[in-house]
Amino acid sequence: MTPTWHAEFITSEFPNGELDDPALYFRKEFLVAEGLTKATLKTTAVGLVEPHLNGSKVGDEVLAPGWTSYRNRLAVSSYDVTDSIAVGANAVGAIVGQGWALGRLGWENKSHFYSNSPALYLEIELEYGDRTEYVLSDSSFRCSTGGVRANSIYDGETFDARLESNGWALPGFNDRHWTQAKPFEWNLDTLIEPAAPPIRATQEIKPASITNLSGGRSIIDFGQVISGWVRLRARGGKAGDTITLRHAELLTPGGELDTETLRTAQATDHWILAGPEDTTWEPRFTFHGFRYAEVTGYPGDLSVRDITAVVVHSDMARTGWFSSSNELVDRMHENTVWSMRDNFVGVPTDCPQRDERLGWTGDLHAFGPTAVLLHDVRGVLRSWLADLRAEQNEKSFVPWVVPDILSTPSSPTALWSDVAVALPWTLYQEYGDTSILEESYDSMATFVRQVEGLLDENGLWSSGFQYGDWLDPDAPDDNPAGGKTDRHLVASAYFCKTTREMADTAEILGQERDASYFRALNRRVREVFRREYITEAGRIVNESATAYALAICFGILEEDQMRHAGKQLAQLVAKSGYTISTGFAGTPHVTDALTLTGHLDEAYKLLTQTQCPSFLYPVTQGATTIWERWDSVRPDGTVNPSGMTSLNHYAFGAVTSWLYRVVAGLQAAAPGWRRIRIEPRPGGGLTHATARHDTVLGAVEVSWRITSKTMSVDVRMPAGAEAEVVLPLDPDNRTISIGQGQHHWEYALPESYGTRPDFTMDTPLAELSRDITTWDALTRVFASHLPGVPIEGNGPGAEGISLSVLLQYVPGASEEFRLDLENALTEAAAHA
Ligand code: BGC
Repeated sequence: MTPTWHAEFITSEFPNGELDDPALYFRKEFLVAEGLTKATLKTTAVGLVEPHLNGSKVGDEVLAPGWTSYRNRLAVSSYDVTDSIAVGANAVGAIVGQGWALGRLGWENKSHFYSNSPALYLEIELEYGDRTEYVLSDSSFRCSTGGVRANSIYDGETFDARLESNGWALPGFNDRHWTQAKPFEWNLDTLIEPAAPPIRATQEIKPASITNLSGGRSIIDFGQVISGWVRLRARGGKAGDTITLRHAELLTPGGELDTETLRTAQATDHWILAGPEDTTWEPRFTFHGFRYAEVTGYPGDLSVRDITAVVVHSDMARTGWFSSSNELVDRMHENTVWSMRDNFVGVPTDCPQRDERLGWTGDLHAFGPTAVLLHDVRGVLRSWLADLRAEQNEKSFVPWVVPDILSTPSSPTALWSDVAVALPWTLYQEYGDTSILEESYDSMATFVRQVEGLLDENGLWSSGFQYGDWLDPDAPDDNPAGGKTDRHLVASAYFCKTTREMADTAEILGQERDASYFRALNRRVREVFRREYITEAGRIVNESATAYALAICFGILEEDQMRHAGKQLAQLVAKSGYTISTGFAGTPHVTDALTLTGHLDEAYKLLTQTQCPSFLYPVTQGATTIWERWDSVRPDGTVNPSGMTSLNHYAFGAVTSWLYRVVAGLQAAAPGWRRIRIEPRPGGGLTHATARHDTVLGAVEVSWRITSKTMSVDVRMPAGAEAEVVLPLDPDNRTISIGQGQHHWEYALPESYGTRPDFTMDTPLAELSRDITTWDALTRVFASHLPGVPIEGNGPGAEGISLSVLLQYVPGASEEFRLDLENALTEAAAHA
């Protein structure tokens, strides 16, 4: 039932809405009679709203109403305030700031995307059993300004405590100097009950260290990059003393804040004291992405007790946990969880710190399958999809950022715009709820038909702008779309995936004509892709890890081509020394592509590499979140100067879903986890891994552990689900069907486990190359003695040629070279 909205929007009579203007304060007193049974306060704003009742803040939401496609959907928060209402005189108030509706958004220094003035909507429903009365925002409200001065999401907030009137939201306050509120034009049809959970302060973090510098400055390290703000307590200052708080993700080598990753966002708060009283303050209409803060002007010595970091984001329930015997991998997992929390502040954003923080579609497409494992995203992402659909309808394209604030129309691009199909599909897989597909069906089909219209006469998506394999580490710093994988290959590969998801969706919803139409389209684009880009044997003309990963994972190859493609991919990742050579498009798929084609060892090598650029390199540099680039901070400690170097972008955290699905072996085999496949794939030297996921049916948990020669596996299953368990490294290769309950297996590992044939200088190269630890070590020796001369494990004669034979063909091979090769063999054996 659509609610009826009774009030009207109001704003100030005096001019307000310029970027430096203070927040608006509104208030009204009302009488309540005996016999009240229930009171409900509903409020929203064009801007940000903090409601007050009888002197106290109402509820625990912050940054309400969040950010939606305001002109289509503006969320109204609702609070049961029965217990805060007294018989007799009451006062309601609200502080309204600028937020996303008026403030600066995007990197082009633009603002006022939705309005030139902030405005309040508020109603209190007073239920008396026999009647209902309302207190409604209208011109009977009084309006003024107070302590909250300039307030900007990017730039920070200024609070002048001298200007805050005591008791302004209490009955009896003298508001003679306040002016009458003025009606504000806003379409009430845009008002909705929120689909997403509110934004809340979910955690508090105490400083890991405080460094006091000269000039009364302190640098505080909170030990974790977060989104949120700092709460301060101060006493003993004078009226007018200003405490300034600056924020950054990073310190310079000299220990100062390094604000380069913020670009133009000022991320600076000012607290102007009213006097020496002991007071606590935190901002309300801004948030920062930071680990470090600099405090200046603090009266006296700043102590750990007086400063707290407050973590702020959409309050989603956590649903995924993972741990293993590899601490670096575990930290990468935690970093992904943090980057997700930090970037789900109302809208799923690219980053929470710089002059962007936008709902970039490509980032979410890459990260969606991981997001659904880590948190319950039904609310936030269904709300976001509703925004996407509303804007797609309005504009006839899927915007690259939702809500759209870009100055030019977005042309359809792979990985970005096709989130319109991929995200409903991912959500349906996770939650098994067909209404997700129903809601988005028209949007999905419209997008697919739009791209179909752009295909060339051969059926390839070969024209128009594409982001390609965005941020491929080999792309030039100033051209992140210029990676080594042909961007139209990426586009056509993604269209194979998109059309398959579309055809499956049509089938699930019983749209038979559409289903066969989209199925035929999928067949056509897949065939055309194969004809254009893949040799008969399975080699891809554009030999890059991303090209192979996409072709393998998107079902583009024929069965018999998969093996060859997998081998080529394995060689490519080996060639790059198991460092990362994929961008946004390929990274989420490369470990899966290796696993699917029987190259699990290589996938683990990729996972556990620590050299730059790699999954774990940032972890070795102390990263506490996922970086935008693998080398956002370079090995010499400098920030990558490209300007695209946030330390908090979830997109590359997409590999985390591989930890759940493959390392721990927890995978949905049917939508909504009704059927589960449990197939742990130990490797990479890990001796145990545990994953738990709270599915819609309940918690499912897998844990495996290797102790000397024994493997133990534990599985917990919720009611209503059944699973096939493929026992890892089981000498009997057992696959077992299970249902609800706790299951335990323990068995001896195969005799051969952990042993490896002894390699010598006479072992054929082909055999050596199959053991990736050994091969890796040998490759390094070759690189240092014969730079630029690769060692080939599958070249002609590799089955017959050994290292000893090879050395005979290296003119002037030094004894040292031989010794290093022998040492590499011995060391690799020790690590086997
Ligand atoms: C964002 C990315 C986004 C990209 C696309 C960047 O500025 O931070 O994550 O997807 O632009 O252009």
